[in-house]
Amino acid sequence: MRRPLVAGNWKMNGSRELTRGLVAEIGADLPNDCGVDVVVCPPYVYLDMCSNLLESQSIALGAQDLDTHGPGAFTGAIAADMLLDVDCRFVIVGHSERRSLYGESDERVAEKAAVAAERGLIPIVCVGETQEEREDGVTEEVVHRQLDAVIRGAGIKIFPQALVAYEPVWAIGTGLTATAQQAQEVHQLIREQLSDASAEVARDTRVLYGGSVKPDNALGLFTQPDIDGGLIGGASLKAADFLGIIKAAIS
Ligand code: PGA
Repeated sequence: MRRPLVAGNWKMNGSRELTRGLVAEIGADLPNDCGVDVVVCPPYVYLDMCSNLLESQSIALGAQDLDTHGPGAFTGAIAADMLLDVDCRFVIVGHSERRSLYGESDERVAEKAAVAAERGLIPIVCVGETQEEREDGVTEEVVHRQLDAVIRGAGIKIFPQALVAYEPVWAIGTGLTATAQQAQEVHQLIREQLSDASAEVARDTRVLYGGSVKPDNALGLFTQPDIDGGLIGGASLKAADFLGIIKAAIS
């Protein structure tokens, strides 16, 4: 059985005040052994603070990105070991915003996934097609290429510990969620692709859906056979919405 996971990607949002409030509110209402892994991914500068706040909570900490170098002369970069030092367990790699705004190639994403896994972090590997690619009918090809780069570059061995997050770019922050059926179709393709490398890995790897997940559409998505939880952007910044989504993953 794949244990559901819900991760909140705060992106470049937050403040000390928001971090304190959000973590306290989520923690207060989260049932202790709820059967769902809950992760929050604040911006780098709030990680250490969050790690202290989470000490008595069953919420894990994740980062939104990492650099592949070790410590050294890499101004502005954050190494995997630094993330581990502030108790991060997860790290998002290849988010579409990193790919489109910061020019991260499939190979770079694979490199990040490899370094993260090697150092003992759990990568959440994001894949997903743009609106144009969906309209051109190349969704399957794009997602396959992005995941293939990671399987080849980092090795199938990083799974099932690593997760995949299918995030159609056209659904991110737009309010346009993929229908449960559209999402399930791609999740099934992802699982088949993993299965080509290893049936066991395909069975055990958690594949999350992301893109305008809200409390009212989460249940429909999470009850699909190949959807094992969600990567949540906007709705993870409101405790009530994030909790509503977690509850949908419990049921
Ligand atoms: P969204 O973002 O939930 O705001 O659409 C999801 C993501 O980018 O991870």
